[in-house]
Amino acid sequence: MDIITSFPEGFMWGASTSAYQCEGAALEDGKKENQQDVINREIHNEYGYADCSVTTDHYHHYKEDVALMAEMGFTSYRFSINWARVLPDGIGSPNPKGVEFYHNLIDELKSHNIEPVVTMWHYDLPMATVERGGWGTRAIIEEFEYFARFICKEYGSKVKYWLTINEQSIVVNYIDRKNKITKEQQYNPKFRYQANHYMNLAHAKAAITIHELVPEGLCGAALDMAPYYPHSCDPKDIMAAKNANAFKNDFYMDAYIKGVYTPSVIKYLERQGLMFEIEEGDMEVIKQGSRCFDFLGINYYQSQCVKAPTPGAARRSKQNNKIGKGGNVTYEIQPDLFEGCLNETIGATDFSMPVDPMGLQYVLEDIHDRYHIPTMICENGFGAYDKLESDGTIRDPYRIEYIREHIKAMKAAIANGAKVIAYNPWSAFDLLSTSNGIAKRYGFIYVDRTDDDVKECKRYKKESFYWYKNVITTNGRNLE
Ligand code: BG6
Repeated sequence: MDIITSFPEGFMWGASTSAYQCEGAALEDGKKENQQDVINREIHNEYGYADCSVTTDHYHHYKEDVALMAEMGFTSYRFSINWARVLPDGIGSPNPKGVEFYHNLIDELKSHNIEPVVTMWHYDLPMATVERGGWGTRAIIEEFEYFARFICKEYGSKVKYWLTINEQSIVVNYIDRKNKITKEQQYNPKFRYQANHYMNLAHAKAAITIHELVPEGLCGAALDMAPYYPHSCDPKDIMAAKNANAFKNDFYMDAYIKGVYTPSVIKYLERQGLMFEIEEGDMEVIKQGSRCFDFLGINYYQSQCVKAPTPGAARRSKQNNKIGKGGNVTYEIQPDLFEGCLNETIGATDFSMPVDPMGLQYVLEDIHDRYHIPTMICENGFGAYDKLESDGTIRDPYRIEYIREHIKAMKAAIANGAKVIAYNPWSAFDLLSTSNGIAKRYGFIYVDRTDDDVKECKRYKKESFYWYKNVITTNGRNLE
């Protein structure tokens, strides 16, 4: 293996956020509600976690936040556009103040030589779109294209890197947690796969739009990417791992990158009575979209371990959001395909998330070998309870260690030929977690608020802030 001491010329260093998790100003300056405003209000009422009304108030702190990112030396920043802020009703009249906000943010980034990486959709469908059927109707394809055309026309002269959808596989597998859907849709086992097909069509239309409207625009999508390891060398476990990788990873990559559906997954869905409807012409659109797909965004947090499924076991989603080390994890089951289990060879975070830097190397090399496509790390990070000390410092050596080991893994993959163009870990600054409120923090910048008390959202630099600044300054040479 070649040894590389630093990262390729032009490699971008930055971090990520998503709109509804950090902006706040949920009903300010003409923005209307999106489904995350509603979902998080329900979560707040049930669990007491913060809702979306303020989160970490980036809407009012964006200049300060960008200045801090610049101080760390960022050359990229991945964020999402809050659809209901620019188009409050999903389609139709734009909201001038919302449109202006993203111009201001992008201009601010560019004035600090930070490349904006824009995600079009990070879980936050406008409620008006939801009321028209959301991902449950074909009409969403046209609405998504409308939104994509609008933002590409508006920001296309300033933004080169575009991501259409965040973590489609997570959206499909946790469809009721990421979307405001009806009980009927929730209990219809086919619904998620039909919605996935509409997402593929919406993504393809947006990819085509990016290539049509954005000079030198590059299209990607960010997938949650966990390699599935076999629990043992029993051929049944090896088969289960192969099935899990096809079902959870290849099914999404094949649609984006090759414009086809993975044959073994389609056969499985047919066998299980879960096959979705494909109309005439749909596969041509998906194929055309794949020709406009330039890079794959990778959200990597952990690897997964699976074994042969217990005969007759029902479908179950993984839940690892229980608080406390080792937590009360419920493993995922996909009937007749695979069953999740504990990987005893690796450790976990306080929120029961397995820690496996080599899994990142595995994923990057595997994708490069099989798909020959550039990748961008769009998320990777360590969620923890951080403590603001009385002297204003935050000591987060656990985050430094996690990120350092993952950067080393990325470096090893690059040495083995993977074309990685950027590292944008989660998250630039603290924000609302999707599963554990404000208390679970990921940022390099601490935002002083709790789930119960918004305070003033004052920003503080964590120890990892200074460490990451040094990594960026040395272009990854200084990792010890
Ligand atoms: C990713 C999402 O799956 O994981 C982010 O894209 C999310 O939106 C991140 O915040 C971390 O997960 P959590 O549940 O700890 O916030």
